[in-house]
Amino acid sequence: MALLDKHAILEKNATLLLAGSFLVVTIGGIVEIAPLFYLENVIEKVEGMRPYSPLELAGRKIYVREGCYVCHSQMIRPFRDEVERYGHYSLAAESMYDHSFQWGSKRTGPDLARVGDRYSNEWHVQHLIEPRSVVPESIMPSYAFLKDTPLAVNEFETHLVANVRVGVPYTEDMLANARADLVAQADVNADTSALLERYPKAKVGDFDGNPNALSEMDALVAYLQMLGTLVDFSTYDEAAGYR
Ligand code: HEC
Repeated sequence: MALLDKHAILEKNATLLLAGSFLVVTIGGIVEIAPLFYLENVIEKVEGMRPYSPLELAGRKIYVREGCYVCHSQMIRPFRDEVERYGHYSLAAESMYDHSFQWGSKRTGPDLARVGDRYSNEWHVQHLIEPRSVVPESIMPSYAFLKDTPLAVNEFETHLVANVRVGVPYTEDMLANARADLVAQADVNADTSALLERYPKAKVGDFDGNPNALSEMDALVAYLQMLGTLVDFSTYDEAAGYR
């Protein structure tokens, strides 16, 4: 009872209550945040994750520039309805090379975290040119101009360098071949063996339906087609990761 009486002092004095609340929140905050500074890595390593190939990275930049994230999230939450609709819930490691992340907070359209391999390149191109031609009730805007916009390839390695600065492990080899890889991935005649060694599972070939020109559509579709495809969930062990 005595302790409760003392609590009444706090309840009757707004300044004291504020100071007390601040103290409690501070302690709680320190307990939650401080340990993070002593961990080397808070993201569990997952097999299959690699930095984006130059073409995927270029597509990702277009995705951000066009504001696709305004209507699309890229994070499948660990709830049954989401997993049944979109596939395995997103792992932290799957966005470890994302700068900035594309988790999103709004789904006017569906989540895109695992849209890779769900449709053909032709479907994506047609859908981006005129969404209503494949999904009549769609309210998604048309992005037809991407097909007529040549992809900027000059000094593309600077984008990889920027990612290196924030911790993405692009190697010297990847930096040196950035521009060549960017062009080769969408070139039907290119030898892509070195590219695939640097970026396993990268999709290669013509993406936009016009093999003679490298367009922003090539890059965006290459990016969409790899989303969520790097981690092999048939061998991923929920409880133990890969160990
Ligand atoms: C105004 C909101 C809006 C914006 C902006 C938008 N979308 Fe969509 N998107 C939708 C809606 C709604 C759908 C569902 C209907 C449909 O398939 O068109 C959709 C569907 C999709 C799908 C098919 C997903 C699936 O699983 O069926 C893809 C892929 C997609 N959008 C990519 C993009 C890309 C890439 C951009 C940016 C260039 C973009 N969207 C911008 C609203 C939007």
